[in-house]
Amino acid sequence: MTDISRILTQVVEDEAEVVVDRSLRPHTLNEYIGQRELKANLSILLGAARQRGDAADHVLLHGPPGLGKTTLATIIARELGANIRYASGPAIERAGDLAAILTSLDERDVLFIDEIHRLNRAVEEILYPAMEDYALDVMIGKGPSARSLRLTLKPFTIVGATTRAGRISSPLRDRFGATYRLDFYDIPDLTAIVERSARLLNVDLHQDGATAIARRGRGTPRVVNRLLRRVRDFAQINGDGTVDAATADRALAALEIDDEGLDGTDRKLLAAIVQKFGSGPVGVQALAAVLAEEPETVEDVYEPFLLRLGFLDRTPQGRIATDGARRHLARLGYDVPPPRRSDGDQAALWDGTVRATDAATDTDTDARAL
Ligand SMILES: Nc1ncnc2c1ncn2[C@@H]1O[C@H](COP(=O)(O)OP(=O)(O)O)[C@@H](O)[C@H]1O
Ligand SMILES: [Mg+2]
Repeated sequence: MTDISRILTQVVEDEAEVVVDRSLRPHTLNEYIGQRELKANLSILLGAARQRGDAADHVLLHGPPGLGKTTLATIIARELGANIRYASGPAIERAGDLAAILTSLDERDVLFIDEIHRLNRAVEEILYPAMEDYALDVMIGKGPSARSLRLTLKPFTIVGATTRAGRISSPLRDRFGATYRLDFYDIPDLTAIVERSARLLNVDLHQDGATAIARRGRGTPRVVNRLLRRVRDFAQINGDGTVDAATADRALAALEIDDEGLDGTDRKLLAAIVQKFGSGPVGVQALAAVLAEEPETVEDVYEPFLLRLGFLDRTPQGRIATDGARRHLARLGYDVPPPRRSDGDQAALWDGTVRATDAATDTDTDARAL
């Protein structure tokens, strides 16, 4: 017998943050800030399923870490009035593990599978008929006398989460009735999230303090919540606990978060491309080695926001630090050597010096076009 409690995890994330993370989690779609289009579509899907009394279609959520995928899964179950079980791709090692989980589900339950792109092949194959027909195919016996037996499961809903939809095999992707992409949050939404969290954590937060934190929040709710807690600590030790813009600025400077929201690792990544690899192109493996991180972590955790800022380009040849990134580093006092890029006009753009106040927009992408 497989002990499924071993596989059905509580949501395991950044351990130290789990408790606060959970206490800050919105419980309903209404409380969930931002992602308006996603919410509108999801609310139709959930409302319709509720009306019919059916299990909702399977839902795939994808987007960078900390944007609210696990939170949404919990909200989906709640809005359906259903139970939710949490599992994660790497924890489901054998087909039998998944079969045990599936047969334990009650009608209309939600099974959340985090990091669903990391399911192994044998496990995935169990999932296909289960998602499509609520059927479980089990093999009885061995050799020539073996036969397959089809068991019927109670209707249920899979909510899968992944940092990148492209990692999921197409047969699996095709079995989701709805796929939603979570985007980075804009400043007003992040400000609202900081203000909500401050209320829940009883932090005396001024409006300008909330904006100061939101501006450096990398478009990510988990990050603004983390910054809020650090800034609160700082305000408590260095003042009367009130968080205004001045306190937030000092606290964030002490944490070495710059005005674009980049932390030490982000800058190390960009500086490596610029200083060690002639601004690129450079492969992700080489970058990961410099940072002593897994390539997958570099791709999923660090790069998305740098891409979004326009500081990084992904090309078939590798990563390139853009002129915007070079200007940012130069402004922070980094040594910024000229780029090694081969094409002629590109070199002409660079006379070896970078002006911090250069107002020109980043049009170098075209110059690099293949
Ligand atoms: N839309 C949102 N509104 C308010 N808080 C949010 C929102 N999305 C995420 N959060 C907060 O951010 C934290 C991280 O969200 P989570 O769902 O764990 O992200 P993911 O699973 O995508 O990594 C949660 O604690 C939650 O409080
Ligand atoms: Mg999560």
